[in-house]
Amino acid sequence: MSETGRSLTCSRFSAAVQRKALVQLTDGKFEFRWKPMKISYFAECTVLITGASAGLGREFARQLAQVAGSLILVARRQDRLKTLELELKLINPELEIFIQQVDLQNEEDVSRFCDWLEESGLTVDVLINNAGLGDYGKFGDADWQRIRAMLQVNMVALTYLTYRILPAMRKGGGGAILNVSSIAGFVPMPNGAVYAATKAYVTSFSEALRAELRALNISVTVLCPGPVPTEFQEVAARTSDQETISVNLLTVPVQEVVREALTAVTRHRARVVPGMMVQVAATAILFVPMFLKRLFFDFQSLRESEYAPPRSLDFEPSQTGH
Ligand SMILES: NC(=O)c1ccc[n+]([C@@H]2O[C@H](COP(=O)([O-])OP(=O)(O)OC[C@H]3O[C@@H](n4cnc5c(N)ncnc54)[C@H](OP(=O)(O)O)[C@@H]3O)[C@@H](O)[C@H]2O)c1
Repeated sequence: MSETGRSLTCSRFSAAVQRKALVQLTDGKFEFRWKPMKISYFAECTVLITGASAGLGREFARQLAQVAGSLILVARRQDRLKTLELELKLINPELEIFIQQVDLQNEEDVSRFCDWLEESGLTVDVLINNAGLGDYGKFGDADWQRIRAMLQVNMVALTYLTYRILPAMRKGGGGAILNVSSIAGFVPMPNGAVYAATKAYVTSFSEALRAELRALNISVTVLCPGPVPTEFQEVAARTSDQETISVNLLTVPVQEVVREALTAVTRHRARVVPGMMVQVAATAILFVPMFLKRLFFDFQSLRESEYAPPRSLDFEPSQTGH
């Protein structure tokens, strides 16, 4: 049984992972310590993880390998997935692993994958819609293919996978969906306009879906991390020397983000923002009124234009009286 009393049909035994919690020491003081936490919720489950070849997705696979029955790992880089498979087999030799090379930008590819899933007879108990990418820079200067890829992977593929997997979850009597969004989805983000908009979609979609599925024993949790040290920043940069947003104070290790996310799923929480400082920042972002945010954006834009090189005129100003 899960800690809240509801469980997935696949839960059969318990295992322990670590979570950080406030504990009282013998001298009466309080301190944050790693505490074991039961994740029996995932025991023997079939978990589908998109974007498993790197970053958060790979870490989800590593943490779940201890307890899950089967993992379906999806990404484009098959070599990475194969290396991960070997690693996971060492963690749990009993684990069944299915590697699926799918380009989530490509709707036909995604549809073919869903057909395979239906024909395989596998029932996904936990769907982790994690794959995603960003693009840092002004919208007007962006490469359309990168914009398109963000829309397809971050929104279309996530929605379509959920749509195709939901009927089997309903038939099976329960399940859990974890959608990976971002705190970027809480606020419009100049220089990351499309990325932030896709994450606002993920957050909104997840909250609404949660309400629709509540009575069906299917939980929906949305993960909204701040900065996490993965390949994400490298992929989001348009050139190798481009500076992207990195706020060291807010950075949370990938292991902790995943641990908090999995804990949130076991508790059927609607939303999880890992890291105390990120939670403070997210709360501030949500409570600052929009007109103040606009003032800040205007100020930033003015500062950028001050430093921008003067625009060259490639036409001769028209002469009057010609
Ligand atoms: N890192 C952060 O600071 C941060 C903060 C907030 C939210 N997030 C969110 O966290 C999620 C995971 O990001 P990450 O930080 O782990 O980034 P990452 O290290 O770059 O990993 C991204 C994963 O997505 C997969 N992916 C990208 N495009 C794909 C495609 N077309 N088809 C299939 N798979 C694709 C990649 O696999 P292949 O390249 O092998 O296909 C990779 O496994 C994303 O949704 C991201 O928006 C990240």
